[in-house]
Amino acid sequence: MFFLFLCLVICFVSTISLRTCLCQFFTGIGLVGFSSSTLVTLGGCAPEHRAALLPVNATTGTAIPGVTASSAVLCLNHRMESPTLWLALGGFVLIAYCLVHRVKGAMIYGIVVVTAISWFRNTPVTAFPNTPAGNQAYSYFKEVVSLHKIEKTAGAFDFSDFGKGVFWEALVTFLYVDILDTTGTLYSLARFAGFVDESGNFEGQYFAFMSDATAIVIGSLLGTSPVTAYIESSTGIKEGGRTGLTALMAGFYFFLALFFTPLLASIPAWAVGPPLILVGVMMMRCVTEIDWEDMKQGIPAFVTLLLMPLTYSIAYGLIGGIGTYVVLHLWDWGVQAWVYFGNKNGASANDNSNGRIHMGATTNGNTSTV
Ligand SMILES: *[C@@H]1O[C@H](CO)[C@@H](O)[C@H](O)[C@H]1NC(C)=O
Ligand SMILES: *[C@@H]1O[C@H](CO)[C@@H](O)[C@H](O)[C@H]1NC(C)=O
Repeated sequence: MFFLFLCLVICFVSTISLRTCLCQFFTGIGLVGFSSSTLVTLGGCAPEHRAALLPVNATTGTAIPGVTASSAVLCLNHRMESPTLWLALGGFVLIAYCLVHRVKGAMIYGIVVVTAISWFRNTPVTAFPNTPAGNQAYSYFKEVVSLHKIEKTAGAFDFSDFGKGVFWEALVTFLYVDILDTTGTLYSLARFAGFVDESGNFEGQYFAFMSDATAIVIGSLLGTSPVTAYIESSTGIKEGGRTGLTALMAGFYFFLALFFTPLLASIPAWAVGPPLILVGVMMMRCVTEIDWEDMKQGIPAFVTLLLMPLTYSIAYGLIGGIGTYVVLHLWDWGVQAWVYFGNKNGASANDNSNGRIHMGATTNGNTSTV
């Protein structure tokens, strides 16, 4: 069972990376956009053809006080005409060709080419359009080197809500989301790198979790976004990274990146989206390890596969998948429990779960192997 979920997580983490890359105008290439009738549809329009959404009261038709408008997610017209989308697709094809011909560093070339093209001003695909925001981004870009102190976020604690319910709600929610996300990511990566044995473990997993936990605690004390394992690491694994040396090297580059934030912050989303889509392709290969003939595996797998990208949450997908898995196996488990507890006088169990469930070492001998 664990093996199945491991595989599920990998596939689904890959689908969520697809979802991020395809849908979000600000973090992806923006191929998929919002539709007011079907929720998602083909997007890919230039910023000047997008509209923001404001929630209105469905009864009265007026704006609900206190709500905020969304970012520009709705394409009004000119779908698939965004120049940056086409540049991203160009980068996609470039990387894809390199991958087909097994060129090392394919992802980097794609990102560099697309980024270099986007850094020229006064082109349709520029990362710095002639708007106030574009000008501001450009003047920041021109600084090249800059270093910020973290005095505003480091150690900025506030325990005033400690005794309130909301505090503990948030704590439990974050804890649970982080555990599921980290487990999913770590095991997907370990499996992608080929470190996972038949029982679903990998060497040093305990320390992997401990260092992830330590990093996330230190990161949150400093007020950064979560310092945790990210699925983007799969690009490094794809290029052959197998030892901690890869991570140390990446860490060193991150250190350098501290000083070059203006440059790195100016790498546009449409340069980074294509590699992530292709990583999704690579991770997808594990869907073949799901036994689609066995509906007890296939249905939870499919539920997870759909829910993760559509709800934009690994955690929701896992809950859906595990829930479906449990519901579909209740009957078998009931039969097994009945055989084990209620029927110890040797009547043969008529169980048809074709050898996929092992209820643990307690049911040994005649009733266990089903
Ligand atoms: C919408 O308006 C109706 C009538 O004024 C009101 O009863 C309802 O609570 C409103 N709904 C929301 C979500 O504000
Ligand atoms: C299994 O059943 C056989 C025959 O009924 C019996 O001899 C054997 O001891 C049983 N094994 C266990 C582990 O209960």
